[in-house]
Amino acid sequence: MRSSRCSFRVVLMVASLMLSALAATCQPAPRETKTAAADPGGTAEAEATDVHAAARRRMVEHQLRGRDITDRDVLVAMEKVPRHEFVPESMRALAYADSPLPIGHDQTISQPYIVALMTQLARPKPNARALDVGTGSGYQAAVLAELVDHVYGIEILCPLAEQASARLARLGYENVEVRCGDGYQGWPEHAPFDLIILAAAPDHVPQPLVDQLAPGGRLILPVGDFAQDLVVVERQADGTVKRWSVIPVRFVPMTGETQRRSEERR
Ligand SMILES: C[S@@+](CC[C@H](N)C(=O)[O-])C[C@H]1O[C@@H](n2cnc3c(N)ncnc32)[C@H](O)[C@@H]1O
Repeated sequence: MRSSRCSFRVVLMVASLMLSALAATCQPAPRETKTAAADPGGTAEAEATDVHAAARRRMVEHQLRGRDITDRDVLVAMEKVPRHEFVPESMRALAYADSPLPIGHDQTISQPYIVALMTQLARPKPNARALDVGTGSGYQAAVLAELVDHVYGIEILCPLAEQASARLARLGYENVEVRCGDGYQGWPEHAPFDLIILAAAPDHVPQPLVDQLAPGGRLILPVGDFAQDLVVVERQADGTVKRWSVIPVRFVPMTGETQRRSEERR
């Protein structure tokens, strides 16, 4: 028993070392190229599509349905969005693994389960308007775009924002708009939002995001420094706000204004 636990730990260590090594060498996502010229019949492309679709089905079955993701529409969206298109070429083999992955610029695409959980907690509706703060690769925005009317994305790192915007357009997501900027202030021109998802951790809930929630709307975000909680903030119909924690999580820190404010407090 003891030796099998040890070997399991060794396997885990080797896997995490491999991921760290990949992360350390990770470059910004290269532009994806089609293989049509080298493969006029498109056979290789069709086979690759099948492989990814099968991996996606397994991801939904084991990582999502096997845990606590029960919203049928969220499960359908997670099975549809081609996550491998949102990771660098060198990471594609791991695109459907049960973990976050590096996307360059020291940032990550969140673990599929966390994307599904945040989406489920946000209670997306077909006529909803969503704000995605920390758009990164654009994957969370694409999942939301399958479920709501319009998604507005803000990403503080301009190269990532530009890549995400081009990628989403190439994949046909016409109901997503991404801009480069600090998401702390939200996007007042398009408020109010029925749901807001923030994928980087501030040490407090940004008030501008709460102010931009529609009645009945929800803000889902990690809050904390080293120890973080996934928090739901819900604006009630009478304008009051309820807040509760769901699970402990580990996200990259929110940068920009929130960081400046916490440094000033120290
Ligand atoms: C965990 S990644 C997000 C993953 C992303 N949702 C996806 O699907 O790929 C967090 C992102 O938040 C961005 N970020 C951090 N602080 C931000 C801020 N103040 N405003 C906007 N984006 C921010 C980071 O640059 C990073 O790309």
